[in-house]
Amino acid sequence: MSLEKIQKKMEHLKMTHTLDLLSGMIDDAVKGKKSHLDFFDSILTAEIQSREESRIATSLKVSGLPKGMHLDNFDFLFQPSIDKAKVDNLSTCDFIRQRENVLFFGPPGVGKTHLAVGLGIKAIHLGYSVIYYKVEELLFQLKKRSEIPVYKQRGRAYVKNALVVLDELGYQAFDRHETHLFFQFISARYMKSSTIVTSNRSVKGWVDVFAGDHMATTAILDRLFHKATIFNVDGNSYRLKDFNQMIKESESDAN
Ligand SMILES: Nc1ncnc2c1ncn2[C@@H]1O[C@H](COP(=O)(O)OP(=O)(O)OP(=O)(O)O)[C@@H](O)[C@H]1O
Ligand SMILES: [Mg+2]
Repeated sequence: MSLEKIQKKMEHLKMTHTLDLLSGMIDDAVKGKKSHLDFFDSILTAEIQSREESRIATSLKVSGLPKGMHLDNFDFLFQPSIDKAKVDNLSTCDFIRQRENVLFFGPPGVGKTHLAVGLGIKAIHLGYSVIYYKVEELLFQLKKRSEIPVYKQRGRAYVKNALVVLDELGYQAFDRHETHLFFQFISARYMKSSTIVTSNRSVKGWVDVFAGDHMATTAILDRLFHKATIFNVDGNSYRLKDFNQMIKESESDAN
C-alpha cells in the first residue's frame, strides 16, 4: 500500500487537516515505536479535533455573537450582585436541554450582554445551535418573515435554534404589530427551545415596551418566566470603571 494511495483516500474523506500532518505523524510513530492501534487512534483523534475546531469557528461566525465576551474573562468580583454559582450551573447548558430561559435585568454596563454572550459561546462549544440578535435585528427578521405567504414559510423557523440570545430589550418601544410578532416568536419557542433575554428595564416597564398592551405583555412574561433563571444585576457600570476610579482618586487627593 503506497502512501500516495492513502493520501488520496484521506482527500476523498475530506480529512484535509490530518492529511497535512500525516508524514510528521508517521515519523513520530516510527520513532516512538507506536503500535498500529495507537497510530490509528492518533490519526482519528487529530481529525476529530480539527473538525470540532472548524465546527466551533463556523458556528460562532453564523451565530452573530459578539467576540471576546467569554465567561472566563468576566470579573465576578467587580459585580458581586451576580451569583457565580448560578452562572457556573448555567454554563453546563442543562437549561438548554430542559428548554428553559435565562433573563438578565439591570442598568447599562453591568455585564448583562457579556454573560448572555458567554453562555451562548459555551453552548456552541457544547454543540448547540445558537443565534444572537439585538432586539431591532430580531424585529427586522420577524417582519421580513411575516411578509412571506404562510404556505411558503418553513414551519420550524422560530425554533430551529436551540438557543436564541436576545439582547437589549427595553431600549426600543415596539408598536402593536411588532408586539404581536414578538409574542408569536416567544410563543413558538415556549417549552421547545431556550431564550436568553437581557433588559435594562424591570418587568414593570415592559408594558411600555410592548405598545401599552397589558394582555400581550402578560402573555410574553408568562411564557418567558415559566422555567427561567433570573438575574437582577445591581451594580456599577464596568464601562465607567476607570472613570469612577479616577473620581475616587481625585477625591482622596483633595482630602
Ligand atoms: N464584570 C465584568 N468583567 C469583565 N468585563 C465586563 C464586566 N462587566 C462588563 N464588562 C465589559 O464591559 C462592557 C459592558 O458590558 P455589557 O455590554 O455586558 O453591559 P450591559 O449590561 O449589557 O449594558 P447595556 O445595558 O448598556 O447593554 C463590555 O465590554 C463587557 O465585556
Ligand atoms: Mg448590553
